[in-house]
Parts: sequence; structure tokens; C-alpha cells
Amino acid sequence: MKARDFLSVRDVSREEIHELFTLARSMKKDPRKYAKSLEFKTLALIFEKPSLRTRTSFDVGIQQLGGFSLYLSPNEISLGKRESIHDVAKNLERMVQGIMIRTFAHQIVIDMANYASIPIINGLTDYSHPCQAMADFLTLLEHKGKLEGLKLTYVGDGNNVAHSLMFAGARLGVNVTVACPPGFEPNLTAFRQAVEDAKATGAKIEVVHDPKEGVKDADAIYTDVWASMGQEGEAEARKKIFRPYQVNTQLMSYAKPDAIFMHCLPAHRGDEVTDEVVDSKQSVVFDEAENRLHAQKAIMHELMK
Ligand code: CP
Ligand code: NVA
Repeated sequence: MKARDFLSVRDVSREEIHELFTLARSMKKDPRKYAKSLEFKTLALIFEKPSLRTRTSFDVGIQQLGGFSLYLSPNEISLGKRESIHDVAKNLERMVQGIMIRTFAHQIVIDMANYASIPIINGLTDYSHPCQAMADFLTLLEHKGKLEGLKLTYVGDGNNVAHSLMFAGARLGVNVTVACPPGFEPNLTAFRQAVEDAKATGAKIEVVHDPKEGVKDADAIYTDVWASMGQEGEAEARKKIFRPYQVNTQLMSYAKPDAIFMHCLPAHRGDEVTDEVVDSKQSVVFDEAENRLHAQKAIMHELMK
């Protein structure tokens, strides 16, 4: 892997993503083989937002590779308040060999990567969630046996998860349709970058407003919460706007009969997805969660070895 950090799916080439998937699958099959890969190395986990999957998967992942993790909660560091991002980076690089950050402004992970001499991994910002997209496309590959030419439709808010799915689809030749309410489209720069990247693979990246039209012929239907972390104040108002974008059995019926249902989790059951869909045979949401572990182990291995 050429990149020193993993801030965006755009940091890695198509070939590098496939190499990471191959390594992740090998780690999944035979975890003990890699039990000493990152021996004595420590990954600091900086969280400015809550987490179940990201914390658990990085924590367990680094330990399975022979290393240690250090959890730093929002109250402990207060990035940029108690201490500048620069000084946090300069302190941590003397004691740990990598940093995963989950924060609000995307610029914080970029700044951290610029200041620190050790690898920085983006564990979600308001702008993107690249580790999630890696686990998701690994899951798609496992279930469909291929990626190129598939269609993934993301239904809901044009948010951080939607951006990373567009970037990954563009790199891997997977057509990505985002079906969202008017005014909740993905960031325009992110969309244009994905369209640009997609020229190399022929993937079609599009935004539509009609969910039914969006999911037509989809191999995978993906959704996420309507209000992300940090947008709690908008949650009630968004419920009304997003209601027609709920992924329910009826919406699933417009996709291919063997379409899988995907969600990064946590799910707000009854809002963006019904119990019936999330608990159906088509649902692969817990495979995605498990694959966070394997995909991120591959990423840590490549960056920190
Ligand atoms: N999908 C995901 O990132 O979950 P957490 O917020 O629980 O880490
Ligand atoms: N879009 C969601 C993803 C959570 C994993 C959020 O940012 O809260």
C-alpha cells in the first residue's frame, strides 16, 4: 500500500483494495497465522463520538495481530480544546505506532495525518467512513462472488457512509445509486470525485430522488440512519421528510429477487428500515459488522507493519 494513512477510500487504488480484501479473507480464515504481525505495537483509539462496532473491531483486531490498543474517550483528549491537534499528534507519535480517530470535522483527521509521523486511520468523520465501506464491499464480494458490474443502491441521507460507498464503488466498478430526498444529496465535491474516479472502471455513480426508481435492478440495497451523530436536533424533522425512503418489504421487492440488504448499523428499526427487512434472510448486516474486524486488520497490517 503506497499511502501512509487511511483517511479515504480514495487513498487506495483498485489493486490495493483487492489486495486488502485478499489479506482480510486470509486473516478471517486463519487468524492465528497473523498473531504476531504487529507484536508490541500500540494503536491509540481517539473517540469524539460513541461507537460499538468501530471500537470493538479495532480493539479486538489489533490484539489479534499481537498488538495493544489504547482507548481515549472524548473527555480525556478534548481535541483542539485542551490541547491542539498538532500537540496531540506530536505526543502520541512518541508512544504509539498508529492512531485511529472518530471525530466530527474531516479536517481534523487530515491535520492529524499532516502533523503525525505515524499512520492515521479515519474511524468516521462527518464526511466519510472509509473502514465501513471496505467491510461493506468485502461483504458484497463474499455474497455475490464478484463486484464488477453489480448495482448497489443507497437509500436515505447523502451522508458520510454514502460518500464512502460512492468512492469504493467508483474504484471497484460497482454502480452506486444514491436515492435521497431533495436537499439531502451527497456532498457535490464527493459526488464529482466519485464520478471522476469511476471513469477508470466504468462504474455508474448517480443520484435520484425516487426510491422505487433507484432500487430497480439493484443487487444490494443499503441504508443508514436518517440523522447522523451530531444531528440529533434534526432527528424529528427528518423523520417526516425521509418516511418515503424507508426500506421495507415493498421497496425490497423492486430490486433483484436475490438482492441483499445492507446497513452499517446502528439501525433505527421502524424508521429507515423495518424489522421484517433487517431480520430477513436477505439481510447481511451482521456479516458487515464482522467484516469490520477482518478488513481493518488488513488495513492496520499494511500501515503499521
Ligand atoms: N457502523 C459503525 O461504525 O458502528 P459504530 O458507530 O457502533 O462504531
Ligand atoms: N451516518 C452515521 C453512521 C454511523 C456508523 C453517523 O455518522 O452517525
